Amino acid sequence: MDGLEVYRSSIHGYGVRALRPFRKGDIVVVGDGVIWREDETFDDEYALVLPGFVKSADGSDGPPMYYDLADQTRWVNHSCKPNTEVDVKWSEEERLAIPWWFAVADIEPGDEITYDYAFLGHLAVPCFCRTDVCRGVIVDEDEAHQVPDQHQHLLRRDLRVNAG
Ligand SMILES: C[S@@+](CC[C@H](N)C(=O)[O-])C[C@H]1O[C@@H](n2cnc3c(N)ncnc32)[C@H](O)[C@@H]1O
Ligand SMILES: [Zn+2]
Repeated sequence: MDGLEVYRSSIHGYGVRALRPFRKGDIVVVGDGVIWREDETFDDEYALVLPGFVKSADGSDGPPMYYDLADQTRWVNHSCKPNTEVDVKWSEEERLAIPWWFAVADIEPGDEITYDYAFLGHLAVPCFCRTDVCRGVIVDEDEAHQVPDQHQHLLRRDLRVNAG
């Protein structure tokens, strides 16, 4: 990863940090991985969820696919106030997905690279991003009402089912 390194993160386990500045809009890194189908058994800890790029016979979107990151991008942690977003291009001809992370804020050397995992509510886990807007758990903001009861108390107050 040019201009990046894996290190011991203060957010969780291993993370990825910048060794040089990146400006807002820059491509920070391109990922490499392996595609899995939703109905297969695999370790999804390091997987991106991809839209149903492979159409069904009737032309409708297929089921989501999983892209198990097999390179150093697998160590990029979540933040509720991320400095990158991930986008994915699908090549129908090659049946190949190419994900890349681009900066949504200026990034300085030493800054940890993060993106918003936006987990579905029932998959939410406690978040340690420690930003001023932290949702308390890793979850898509629109899915907060689906966060299981045992994690509701961790949610930022305005996101709780019984906010107030
Ligand atoms: C793709 S891995 C990221 C690499 C991870 N730090 C490691 O060392 O294996 C995703 C896992 O890292 C952890 N993680 C990432 N961001 C986190 C955060 N903001 N708060 C708590 N755990 C986080 C969660 O366990 C999540 O399922
Ligand atoms: Zn957070």
